[in-house]
Amino acid sequence: MAIKLPKNVTIIEVGPRDGLQNEKGFVPTDAKVQFIHALRDAGIREIELTSFVSPKWVPQMADAAEIVNACTSAPGRSIVLAPNKKGIERVQETSCKAVAVFVGVSNTFNKKNINKTTAESMEELRPLIADLKANGYFVRACISTAWHCPYEGKIPEADTLRLCADFSEAGVNELSVADTIGMAVPTEAYSLFSKLKAALPGILLTGHFHDTRKLALANILASMQAGIDRFDASAGGFGGCPFAPGATGNVATEDVVYMLERMGIKTGISLERLMGAVELVRPHVSRPIESTYYKMHASAGA
Ligand code: HMG
Ligand code: MG
Repeated sequence: MAIKLPKNVTIIEVGPRDGLQNEKGFVPTDAKVQFIHALRDAGIREIELTSFVSPKWVPQMADAAEIVNACTSAPGRSIVLAPNKKGIERVQETSCKAVAVFVGVSNTFNKKNINKTTAESMEELRPLIADLKANGYFVRACISTAWHCPYEGKIPEADTLRLCADFSEAGVNELSVADTIGMAVPTEAYSLFSKLKAALPGILLTGHFHDTRKLALANILASMQAGIDRFDASAGGFGGCPFAPGATGNVATEDVVYMLERMGIKTGISLERLMGAVELVRPHVSRPIESTYYKMHASAGA
């Protein structure tokens, strides 16, 4: 049986947001801006720039408006996260026209992350999404703990399907379905994405895999078998949610690009330039870079 493969894959770069939100310290605004510009130069066309969240909860994202002002004029889609009405109002004061809301399937995780139950978040977001859509915004919904939760354990697939259907009815353009703590296995990725593809044909579906157990590339391959051709990834493999204990970084963009391009799948991203972007931000991050491609590249002295 031939492997089912897309010809092209879109990478949504989440390093400046998912990566840097989980840093111990505050990465200087200038360094973030340079990182974002270098990622664009590498061929990234969709990127999460930052989050309009409470600076008391996540001080690393306190410079969200400055980042947007410095970065939204570049070509491609610049996305920012916002968890609630206040966050969306702050986005609307900027030139950014793409918003990602985020909700956990798990109530316990959602409470810890945004201080509301899943149903309370959905109730608040439904009219806000309608308003954003009516005003020409692109809306993405990040579905956290889609397979496993650090507090509630295995999430019933039916619960994730229901929340995704609710967001689809609310009118979002895209669902980014997230393995927040990197615990899903390829059979689970294939099963959920096959059902989402069949149930929600009109929506962009994206896989967001944290690489805690080094299963992200296998999950991406399984998701492609289910017809998915969009994946979130983080240059350098940085990332993690401060309210999801045990999660490590996102799958590294360079490891995804390397695998896909070697398979003949086009990403439009230059690995050489991507490494340049990682080198720019490296002095500002506390953790070593764990991506396989980066380590091979560094040891080759390139
Ligand atoms: P709260 O304390 O319940 O907020 O936090 P509140 O509504 O009670 O308001 C308290 C104060 O915060 C008020 O100010 C508000 O104005 C202010 P005060 O009157 O005390 O001066 N406030 C805000 N300020 C700035 N921006 C806002 C905002 N909202 C209220 N948007 C809140 C609730 C949602 C704000 C908080 O829990 C929060 O900021 N959480 C964000 C957590 C976060 O950023 N997590 C990481 C991103 S999600 C993720 O990483 C997962 C993902 O990658 C997918 C995956 O892997 O699973 C996407
Ligand atoms: Mg994440």
